[in-house]
Amino acid sequence: MATSARLTLDPSFRIAPVEPRLFGSFVEHMGRCVYTGVFEPGHPLADADGFRTDVLELTRELGVTLVRYPGGNFVSNYRWEDGVGPVEDRPARLDLAWRSLEGNAFGLNEFMAWAAKAGVEPMMALNLGTRGVAEALELVEYANYPGGTRLSDLRRSHGVDKPHDVRLWCLGNELDGPWQMGHKTAREYGRLAAETARALKRFDRDLSLVACGSSNSGMPTFGSWEAEVLEATYEMVDYISLHAYYDPSDGDADSFLASGADMDHMIRSIAATADHVGAKLRSRRQIKLSFDEWNVWYQSRFHGESSLEWAEHPRLIEDDYDVTDAVVVGSLLITLLRNADRVGVACQAQLANVIAPIRTEPGGPAWRQTVFHPFALTARHARGEVLRVEPECPTVSTARYGETPAIWATATHREATGEITLFVVNRDRRNPCALDVTLPAGLAPVEHLELADEDPSATNTAADPDRVVPRPGTGLRLDGRRATLTLPPVSWSIVRFAPQE
Ligand code: AHR
Repeated sequence: MATSARLTLDPSFRIAPVEPRLFGSFVEHMGRCVYTGVFEPGHPLADADGFRTDVLELTRELGVTLVRYPGGNFVSNYRWEDGVGPVEDRPARLDLAWRSLEGNAFGLNEFMAWAAKAGVEPMMALNLGTRGVAEALELVEYANYPGGTRLSDLRRSHGVDKPHDVRLWCLGNELDGPWQMGHKTAREYGRLAAETARALKRFDRDLSLVACGSSNSGMPTFGSWEAEVLEATYEMVDYISLHAYYDPSDGDADSFLASGADMDHMIRSIAATADHVGAKLRSRRQIKLSFDEWNVWYQSRFHGESSLEWAEHPRLIEDDYDVTDAVVVGSLLITLLRNADRVGVACQAQLANVIAPIRTEPGGPAWRQTVFHPFALTARHARGEVLRVEPECPTVSTARYGETPAIWATATHREATGEITLFVVNRDRRNPCALDVTLPAGLAPVEHLELADEDPSATNTAADPDRVVPRPGTGLRLDGRRATLTLPPVSWSIVRFAPQE
């Protein structure tokens, strides 16, 4: 039986401008994200730098604006110096995070060259696990100082004349996690992050810095970690990080489909925590949120780092995504946009092969996973100002989060063209929903696409890469200022409205 819902799109209900940095991704030295993912010298489609041009093209099509590098857990035992200079002189190392052998053929300068070709902003993570302030400063000098000092001249001797001028830096990764090399208490990390931030801002006060928040909202110190870290760093950092992975594998599909509501709660909780610290410190600054790892991850299929045998770029967590996963990814993007006034950076983890929208085979093809599509369409069409959209709709009962709204939506408005784009998910697994949209006068639909399938477990594969693609929606009607459409069960839809000629 169809349910019904309604919402209003009004350009005066503004939340905040769409921040391009919300469409970030993540390239970690993990599994096959770098090697045989973005970088595969000898591949028939590799360019002169060894970058796979098929992956570069897909990255551009995905609409990624920013890429976090080089980890992740990897960064916490990484020596950036190993990855620069003549390739034949670079050492092989043990990566303890993923029990992998790291040959270092790809490092900082290769990443920056790749990022320039992909047209993305680099977001660099520093090792504050096994290393500290001195090494962070050395990396920033190597990367960002024009020349005339030992490390900037070293970069120039490596063939990179102009500084990379990286603006966005993560002060470590997930240091609250006992799995992290150099794991710390909030007190230890807060001090180290503060001293590193102080030194980096002395180097360049306009750098944007991200302090590590909790690894996930289930950590025993969730909330108190952020409070203690921000008390130590508040005046020196710009963002606090959030990470969340949603696992479909426990069979509770209703809760899984409500992941966007959980992400929303997490964002509000950390924003409130940050504001509480700001109030205690009598500060006028507002800390923004960097949701720099988010995605769907079949985490319970991964048996942990200690179960891994030493290997070079092994196949790690190459999850195959289905239609339901894509709907959840679409709803997580909706949540990020709904919180555009607080979330300033977001990175889907990761870009290629490792829980990724882009899959590749070594020596073979690259293809789009199902989750590629809602990301690409959102990144392409979410422009201008995010509008507050509050659907009146039924709820879905979930074991994990209680009653959650069945319809999850956001919209953006481009003042210059008058266009409004609606992004909407029906989380109900059983019922389609008849949606009634009230529009400003003079707008008419120009495009309506939906991602849904008779078989919500359908996936894309190397043999059938376009099994799941967005298809034109049907049955959209306009009557004056009222548009009506039907949202299939478990669906993600985009509807673009533009001024009528
Ligand atoms: O993205 C995979 C891993 O998940 C990252 O290395 C780590 O930061 C997180 O726990």
